[in-house]
Amino acid sequence: MTKQRKGIILAGGTGSRLHPATITVSKQLMPVFDKPMIYYPLSVLVQAGIQDILMITTPHDQAQFKKLLGDGKAWGLNIEWAVQPSPDGLAQALIIAEDFLDGAPSALILGDNLFFGSGFAKTIKRSVKDTGGATVFGFHVKNPSDYGVVGFDKDMNAISLVEKPENPASNYAVTGLYFYDEHAPKYAKTVTPSARGELEITALNEIYLNRSELRVELLDEGTTWLDTGTHRSLLAAAQFVAVMEDRQGIRICCPEVESFRQGWLTKDELLTLAEPLKKSGYGNYLAKVAESEH
Ligand code: DAU
Repeated sequence: MTKQRKGIILAGGTGSRLHPATITVSKQLMPVFDKPMIYYPLSVLVQAGIQDILMITTPHDQAQFKKLLGDGKAWGLNIEWAVQPSPDGLAQALIIAEDFLDGAPSALILGDNLFFGSGFAKTIKRSVKDTGGATVFGFHVKNPSDYGVVGFDKDMNAISLVEKPENPASNYAVTGLYFYDEHAPKYAKTVTPSARGELEITALNEIYLNRSELRVELLDEGTTWLDTGTHRSLLAAAQFVAVMEDRQGIRICCPEVESFRQGWLTKDELLTLAEPLKKSGYGNYLAKVAESEH
């Protein structure tokens, strides 16, 4: 029987494109408007129904992440911890996670990727149930050369994957959310370092593509996928969240709220989490959800 899918959040790296802002604090702990960046990918995994999560950080940032998230129990989650000693590539996450996964399929998400949209929530809830092979998510962007890019045949079947191509085959970037079957750690070990010295996630995805086991789900126009890699894109992401939240009077991508909606937190547990956060308004929102949605 297939085991329950487990989550991996990769939150290492040097954050050098955001220096000096990220010299003393991990990029993924920086705020995106009203909450730490890491809340956003965490909320995606919780929305997908994933409760067992491995957090991979640099060795020196782990203590601060643990202060924020702990073992996840207070949020109805099971969070385990691992380190990536140096940023040797995204595919290394699967190798680091091998013991944690213990033969289970996985969902890997990058700690700096922000997704939002009701269509997106539906897509991931569907994809999380896929068995066998891998699923990646394509998103139409203006600047595909900055990403992994998927090429299609005339029937929109994926036929190529190229990391940061000079001449992109399409405008579809591969986002930083990947669903894999139980074979991913084994395949990741066969990936060799690229010209930039990294175990590329695109190389792992190509293994699935070459086996005809790669699904490419295109995210619709109602979905937002934001990058936080530069000062400007980080600011744009924060402005996006502020506009959404101010306009609608809600908060988006709150892991505690998603966990409550999954039934992993009771009303009282959510109210307890809300109490110390009321000064910032975040707690008031948690309390409002606890009172109105139970
Ligand atoms: O965001 C999606 C893109 O992410 C994909 O389209 C690309 O195919 C994929 O290679 C990756 O692109 P980047 O090269 O822009 O990723 P970057 O090196 O910026 O790393 C992404 C995040 O992962 C960043 O927050 C740092 C972290 N990271 C990166 C590496 C290389 C790690 O935690 N460990 C690592 O070894």
